[in-house]
Amino acid sequence: MMMMSTPIIQRPKGTQDVLPAQSQQWFGLLAKASAVLESANYTRIDTPIFENTSLFERGVGDSTDIVNKEMYSFEKEGRSLTLRPEGTAGVVRAYIEQGLHRTAKPVRLYYAGAMFRYERPQEGRQRQFHQFGSELLGLDTPQADAEVILQAIAVLKTLNIQGVELHLNTVGTPEDRLRFREALKTLLAPHLPELCEDCQRRFEQNPIRMLDCKVTTCKTIYDGELVETFLNTFDWSAEAVESFKTLCGILDKLNIAYSVNRRMVRGLDYYTGTVFELTSNQLGAQSAVCGGGRYNRLVETLGGPETPAIGWAMGVERLMKLATHDEPPVLDFYIVTNQPAEAFALAEQLRAKGARVEVDLTHKPFGKQLAQADKRKAVHALILGDSEVLKKQVEVKKLESGVQTAFSTTAFLASLG
Ligand code: HAM
Repeated sequence: MMMMSTPIIQRPKGTQDVLPAQSQQWFGLLAKASAVLESANYTRIDTPIFENTSLFERGVGDSTDIVNKEMYSFEKEGRSLTLRPEGTAGVVRAYIEQGLHRTAKPVRLYYAGAMFRYERPQEGRQRQFHQFGSELLGLDTPQADAEVILQAIAVLKTLNIQGVELHLNTVGTPEDRLRFREALKTLLAPHLPELCEDCQRRFEQNPIRMLDCKVTTCKTIYDGELVETFLNTFDWSAEAVESFKTLCGILDKLNIAYSVNRRMVRGLDYYTGTVFELTSNQLGAQSAVCGGGRYNRLVETLGGPETPAIGWAMGVERLMKLATHDEPPVLDFYIVTNQPAEAFALAEQLRAKGARVEVDLTHKPFGKQLAQADKRKAVHALILGDSEVLKKQVEVKKLESGVQTAFSTTAFLASLG
């Protein structure tokens, strides 16, 4: 008789499992990154994974690809909710709603968690991905810009990630941005019929984003001399120029290499002033490991008091690809036993001393249990049978050499410090 097997259920496209073989690295990476920010007096904030859809429409901007095409939105009892596509809008919502704006400024926060964008999955681009991000709220100084950028660099350094390039730009004051938008439209209007469908839409909704288009015909125009001259001669306000100069001066003094990329406009609407990205050529087409910038109007846009702010987010999956990973943890002790209660008690005492300990739960003959200890690559097997329990002893077997020694349990525990 032919057996019909039950079909397996696969994970949704664009998602990833963090398997046991990676989880140690994953959480280790997040712990190291968090420690860098904690040491600069940033504290962690956790906001809901879903928010009211209007938060992202108003916050991220309804002319962005994220809001237009990529949101995972659903209805519950007539309300539209959305899985967060990024972290900043939620952090700012909490900052306003929970009164963090009444605490001493600047407020330094960081976060980590899953984000969701309905994008076309490809190498380095997922539909559920994870970000590690930080936000500094309440200050509009180039010094704050510098600190935030330096913290991102410090995180990468701690993770031993090398060969990353820093790209900087300023999108000017909000007023500059409006003027820039109109001037760009005037410049590109004669070319409109040659541009891709997306750019034709962006021309009306979000012309600045056109500069980011990857379609060859559009790119030829945006990379050409016409746009180059426009970008180099645009009349930015003195305020924006001065602030950007000071930031560059600080980075220069610290010998931090960067390139000014006038075409880098970032995909979210809330940016004002400094924007930046950290890219790696080891990531393929999706080269950005970190993106961020200043968003001086977002708190007001979401109903809070005037509050300048700046922040960044890194893709954790991309960090995982670039980071040098620690050795997997070793299993210090494998307890071979037919005395479960004593074995559990001993395991507790060993774990309290920081050891990684497993107790054999099979109740099989000791030979079989010792074979398991080998398979699990334990450093030592601890044999705890009837006679050891009676004598208050433990047999310690070094699995590599096979050398076995009996110790009194008390002396053994004391020897571990
Ligand atoms: P973003 O540039 O959209 O900025 O995302 C930041 C980082 O998240 C990217 O550089 C990338 O490493 C990672 N990332 C984004 N989308 C995906 C994806 N589909 N798959 C894998 N990784 C991805 C923001 O989200 C802003 N909230 C950053 C910010 C914070 N600006 C100010 N404060």
